[in-house]
Amino acid sequence: MSYKETILITGGAGFIGSHVVRLFVNKYPDCHIINLDKLTYAGNLANLKDIEDRPNYTFVKGDICDFEMLMKLFSGQQVTGVIHLAAESHVDRSIKDPFTFAQTNVMGTLALLQAAKLTWEALPEKFEGKRFYHISTDEVYGALEMTHPEGIQPPFTTKASSGKHHLSYGEQFFTEDLKYQPHSPYSAAKASSDHFVRAFHDTYGLPTIVTNCSNNYGPYQFPEKLIPLFINNIRHRKPLPVYGKGENVRDWLYVEDHARAIDLIFHKGKIGDTYNIGGFNEWKNIDIIKVLINTVDRILGRPEGEDMNLITYVTDRAGHDLRYAIDSSKLQRELGWEPSLQFEEGIEKTVRWYLDNQEWMDNVTSGDYQNYYNEMYNGR
Ligand code: NAD
Ligand code: TYD
Repeated sequence: MSYKETILITGGAGFIGSHVVRLFVNKYPDCHIINLDKLTYAGNLANLKDIEDRPNYTFVKGDICDFEMLMKLFSGQQVTGVIHLAAESHVDRSIKDPFTFAQTNVMGTLALLQAAKLTWEALPEKFEGKRFYHISTDEVYGALEMTHPEGIQPPFTTKASSGKHHLSYGEQFFTEDLKYQPHSPYSAAKASSDHFVRAFHDTYGLPTIVTNCSNNYGPYQFPEKLIPLFINNIRHRKPLPVYGKGENVRDWLYVEDHARAIDLIFHKGKIGDTYNIGGFNEWKNIDIIKVLINTVDRILGRPEGEDMNLITYVTDRAGHDLRYAIDSSKLQRELGWEPSLQFEEGIEKTVRWYLDNQEWMDNVTSGDYQNYYNEMYNGR
């Protein structure tokens, strides 16, 4: 079958990538979706079991730092669009091993940009109809204060530039024109990759788009991140390691809403532009943790809040960013995107998914998924 378009999605076996791959494979049967993933500890093809046999889906095991492989893939498969999610993504790991983050997030992105550029500019139509979409994080902007101009204690009701009211922990938000001030090796590497993407647009005219999104939550997230780790620990009545005082604030977005935004921006976003994606949904860690405890306890039929004693305050993360808060009103204004799910609804769905999919969780925590798939895809 000949396809209308071939879209290369990198990091499609990870958390967000698997939702994006699923959405595109289901929604665009006339497009060939290639998932390029190295299958690091964070990549798990079980995340895509429901779509792995679709005719318009191909999995390729490979490293985005492997430039020669990328060149073959781009020309051999006639790739017309890239959605780039492959990255090392966990802040705590970046503090222990910054080199891997620079290698994958910076050098890998550069290899992908160069392969797209060289392949596309050699075609008669050059960059016409092509798109290189880089997925980044709000963490590149650094950390925001928790202040109010009249000294009101947070959280307080704020009016976003979209006109909507929401609870906020500070008067300042991350907007697209804010200067980059990354603090962790993870965010520094992501910031660097964003700069390379814009440099390829400004220097060579590569048709790029960058988006910076807030913290995602939902099914298939690797349980080193706060929400899946804590749901699993509450279930097994293991301690919940809260960094510092649990006062740090994050802006949470349901992963399927992020995938919907990616679809919209890939197709309708302005070339050369940047969009922030977020939920106007700020929470202190400790408050989220209490919601998780209450929800898990209720669903498991335990007395609600019984597991509050699992909360264990531990040494704070080095350089721990105080507050992230995205202003996504540009995306709303220009492309009409809004989060579809209220946080209460999203958290209920998420907790139920992890509790109902204990086998997925057990495979991931035991590392079994890697042995199985590594054998299956060895030598491909
Ligand atoms: P993840 O860690 O769950 O998945 C990353 C995927 O990339 C894995 O499948 C892994 O195998 C693959 N990968 C890693 N190194 C690779 C390499 N060298 N070559 C090919 N594949 C490789 O990450 P995630 O949470 O799904 O994040 C995806 C993207 O979205 C990242 O770029 C991240 O910076 C960004 N992001 C994440 C969040 C969030 O809350 N999780 C928020 C905003 C932006
Ligand atoms: P995380 O899920 O690692 O995402 P990020 O660092 O990208 O925001 O962490 C979310 C917040 O939860 C962050 O403020 C760190 C905190 N946290 C803990 O308190 N304990 C934990 O065990 C983890 C993993 C995170």
